Amino acid sequence: MFSLELSGLTPQQFLATYWQKKPTVIRQGFKDFQDPITADELAGLACDETVESRLVYKKAGEWQAEFGPFESYEHLGEREWTLVVQAVDHWLPQVAALAEPFNFIPSWRKDDLMMSFSAPGGGVGPHIDLYDVFIIQGTGKRQWRVGERGAHSEFAAHEALLHVEDFEPIIDVVLLPGDILYIPPGFPHDGKALEAALSYSVGFRTNSGYELIEGLADYLGEHCLAKDLMTDAGRLMTLRPGEISAQDYDLIKQHLLKMINDDELFSRFTGEFLSQAKHELDIAPQDDEGYSREEVIGLLQQGTMLHRLGGLRCLYLASGLSQGRFYIDGDEKQLPSEMKAVIQLLCDHSSVSAELLLPWIEQEAFLEFLIEQLNAGYWYFDGA
Ligand code: SIN
Ligand code: CO
Repeated sequence: MFSLELSGLTPQQFLATYWQKKPTVIRQGFKDFQDPITADELAGLACDETVESRLVYKKAGEWQAEFGPFESYEHLGEREWTLVVQAVDHWLPQVAALAEPFNFIPSWRKDDLMMSFSAPGGGVGPHIDLYDVFIIQGTGKRQWRVGERGAHSEFAAHEALLHVEDFEPIIDVVLLPGDILYIPPGFPHDGKALEAALSYSVGFRTNSGYELIEGLADYLGEHCLAKDLMTDAGRLMTLRPGEISAQDYDLIKQHLLKMINDDELFSRFTGEFLSQAKHELDIAPQDDEGYSREEVIGLLQQGTMLHRLGGLRCLYLASGLSQGRFYIDGDEKQLPSEMKAVIQLLCDHSSVSAELLLPWIEQEAFLEFLIEQLNAGYWYFDGA
């Protein structure tokens, strides 16, 4: 278990002071920090074709980027390169544990846990992110410079690298193992390894209006919803057939707003949309038979802990929860409304003890749901 200390602030004080507002350094946020994986293990992960990774380095003074999977790192030399691996929390539970202390921010805001290994002098170059990020320093030392939010000109240092022009730092620090740098979206930053270094970026993001509308359109299409056409009985004659009148403009706008104001529709879209995984999930192939009810009951009776697959999103809205409705990996789920407490248990916690689950498996609907989820590879038992 990692225990987070926010420079003496409570999570609420941290949110009120810094969240989305200004960057800050949290010295020894994780005291006595021990890396949950080694640089070699990270390099090995980036050899897997299902894992998203990239290498960033300079060749003859020019920025270069290569995308994984990688077979070898031998062409890189001793200095000035960085390996970035996306969504490591999806693959390694011991790394996912590092994001848990940030659960004072809701899961739907979470993006992924990205890791990087930098050789001495390495870094991905000065850039701006659209994310809120907590960059945790693992082994090694890294110098971080962060500039003020504002109009910074960006340019493609390489076709895959959007960099920002040099900036005046408002933060210029050397991070040591266990230190954390929090950066809200829009602040330019640049991290350079002073010695071989591992970094863990716990990222959070929101959606643009475009992404929401695009997601909503997909949702409506998938569920065959909002097919009603606008109606305009009682129309008055026009002398200007070329005009979209103010009334007609309002008719169109209201037709769209009616759909968004339909809380039954919009809340269900919100749940499905926000619970979609952002990166590939490590769904283990199930053997043909899967778990039987006897096995599941037996494992829980033996006290076996249940874990949620890394990166799997399980969410509920208060309005739907009272009806037993919740969302897993982009799909709506329904259990009897009396099961509200166990739905919260599964959605609010990434691991649940057998003791807490045992009373619920006496209810057939829950046992069936649990078996289905285990056999889909979404949850797994300790040691499985
Ligand atoms: C890195 O770890 O090199 C990149 C982190 C970041 O700047 O967002
Ligand atoms: Co960044």
